[in-house]
Parts: sequence; C-alpha cells; structure tokens
Amino acid sequence: MPDNTLMAADAASSSVCREFTVLELRRTGPESGSPAHSPVGPDQSHWLLDLDLPAGFPGDAGWTPGQFVMLRPVSWSLELLWARPFSICMLENGILRLFFQVVGRGTRAMSALRPGDRVVAWGPLGQGFALEPETPTLLLAGGIGLAPFIGYARRHPQPETLRLFFGHRPEVAEYPLDLLPQEMPIEASRQTCAEELACFVDDLERRIKEYAARQGLILACGPHPFLRAVQGLAMKHRARTQLSLENRMACGVGACLGCVTETTNQTLPVKVCTQGPVFWAEDVHLGGEA
Ligand SMILES: Cc1cc2nc3c(=O)[nH]c(=O)nc-3n(C[C@H](O)[C@H](O)[C@H](O)COP(=O)(O)OP(=O)(O)OC[C@H]3O[C@@H](n4cnc5c(N)ncnc54)[C@H](O)[C@@H]3O)c2cc1C
Ligand code: FES
Repeated sequence: MPDNTLMAADAASSSVCREFTVLELRRTGPESGSPAHSPVGPDQSHWLLDLDLPAGFPGDAGWTPGQFVMLRPVSWSLELLWARPFSICMLENGILRLFFQVVGRGTRAMSALRPGDRVVAWGPLGQGFALEPETPTLLLAGGIGLAPFIGYARRHPQPETLRLFFGHRPEVAEYPLDLLPQEMPIEASRQTCAEELACFVDDLERRIKEYAARQGLILACGPHPFLRAVQGLAMKHRARTQLSLENRMACGVGACLGCVTETTNQTLPVKVCTQGPVFWAEDVHLGGEA
C-alpha cells in the first residue's frame, strides 16, 4: 500500500494567502436564491460561494482535489477569531468555488456575505486524493463531504471510470449534483431514520466489497461516523481506501497543533492540515467520538 501521506512534507510552503472578492453567494436547495431574495436560511442550509481569484493565487492547474483553503471574511474583525477550513469545490476559469453548510457561528456569518465583500483565504492546503485514471474508483460522500468530489470528478481525465455513492439527510435538492460530469453514475440515498441508516450501511458494504474484488480505489469524505463506518468496512474487505478527515483547525499550516490525529504506524500524532486531510484508511485511528 503506498504511503503518500504520513511522510509527506508540509504543504504550507506552496500555499499563498490573498484577499478575495465575493462574486456570488447562492443558496442551494428548494428555496434557492441569492441572500437578497431569501433570508438567511435555518441551520444546515447549503451555499455555493464564488470568489474572484486574485493575482498570485494558484489557478486551475495549481491544486489537487481534496485540498482545502482556510477562509476568514474581513468583516469578522475580532469577533470570530479563527479562519475556517473548506474543501476546494471548484477552481476553474479564475473562480474559486466553495460549497458549505451552515453549522455554527462562522458558517452562518458566511451565509450573509454579499457580492463585493472581501475575504482572506490561504491555500491550497494539505494532501489531496489519489488519482488513478485507469482504476475503477468509487467516491463515497456523506452530506457536505460531497464538496471535494465535485472538483475531483470535474478534473478526472476519465470520469466514466468513477461512480458516486452519496448518503445524505437533507433533501437531495440541497446538493449541487448538476455540477458533476454527466458520464459519472450517481446513486443518492437519503437517511431519515435508523432503518434507512442500517440499509445505507448494508449498501455501503456491498459496494466496498465489490470495489475490493475489482482492485478498485475507494475515496471517502463526510462526517466522522460515516468515515468510521467506511474505515471498518474497508478494513474488513481489504479495500484500497482513502479517507478525508474534517478535524477542527485553527491555522491550517502546521503551526498550532490543533488538528492532530493518531496514526496506526507512528508513535507521534500527525497534523491533519499538512499531512492530511486525506489518509489511507489503515493509517489513521478515528477514535470513538462522533
Ligand atoms: C479539510 C476540511 C475541509 C472542509 N470542507 C468543508 C466544506 O467544503 N464545506 C463545509 O461546509 N464544511 C467543510 N469543513 C467543515 C467546516 O470547516 C466547519 O463546518 C466549519 O469550520 C464550522 O465553522 P462554524 O464557525 O460554522 O462552526 P462552529 O461554531 O465552530 O461549530 C459548530 C458545529 O460545527 C462543528 N464543526 C466545527 N468544525 C468542524 C469541522 N471541521 N468538521 C466537522 N464539524 C465541525 C462543531 O463541532 C459544532 O458542532 C471542512 C473541514 C475541514 C477540516
Ligand atoms: S490546524 Fe494548526 S497545525 Fe493543523
């Protein structure tokens, strides 16, 4: 199994910090529209944020899907101190697009951004997903974990070798599946109760087993319990699997040690922001916490 993450050099050296201008903020889902036409939604609303790429920030060819940026609107002043990490959803034609869900104070404040507002962001950060054009590749996304796979599928030279299995709780219309390439089969499965969740885990196992038998590659991103389930099944079926961890972060560049996680083959914890967020499933301990 290749070890592309644990010994990787810190990625901070190739990242840059710039001030971006908000081009557009659009709420996705049944009540979609710009903030001017719809009030800030209830918690868990989903948003696409387009930022104008400033000079000097790496463009289309300068990033790997699975990498992320740290973002901090200028208007936060000292009220919200720390920047927040977001996967690069798309970086095309001079636009950096993020897809985010409102879960707390920072993301709620982001959902009130207006065109012309300024945000500071640094990146691209971290280690992205493996890309093996000829290998059948299964993308497992849980909820907002869809974000990095939009960029992954759009950048993939043979999207017909990809398949997305997408688990979600909110309505599927909350997610911009229309941004994904048409050639890639998508299966979406909603879980609103314990029975549906149990069926979803059975479906996950069936697919992981199938890709293990085909010597395929499996990539997963989503909430912690989802990643733990994928990790357990990947170990059980010896499937080549990478997981993208969404640990809390403060600096994003390896300086604060706020994001560390335990690994299976190193005595010291590793920094998720620079040595991840993508790890081979067998290399990380996900612990018992949700
Ligand atoms: C590498 C990486 C990529 C990410 N990509 C995306 C993305 O593309 N889109 C997106 O919507 N979110 C993404 N996240 C999660 C995002 O950073 C958090 O949702 C955000 O920081 C929450 O900020 P807040 O101020 O709104 O929440 P807070 O007020 O800080 O916390 C509110 C709630 O959110 C939870 N939370 C906070 N940070 C995280 C986190 N990192 N992961 C999971 N739960 C968290 C808290 O435990 C709490 O329950 C990513 C995180 C990482 C580490
Ligand atoms: S977020 Fe600071 S070291 Fe990782």
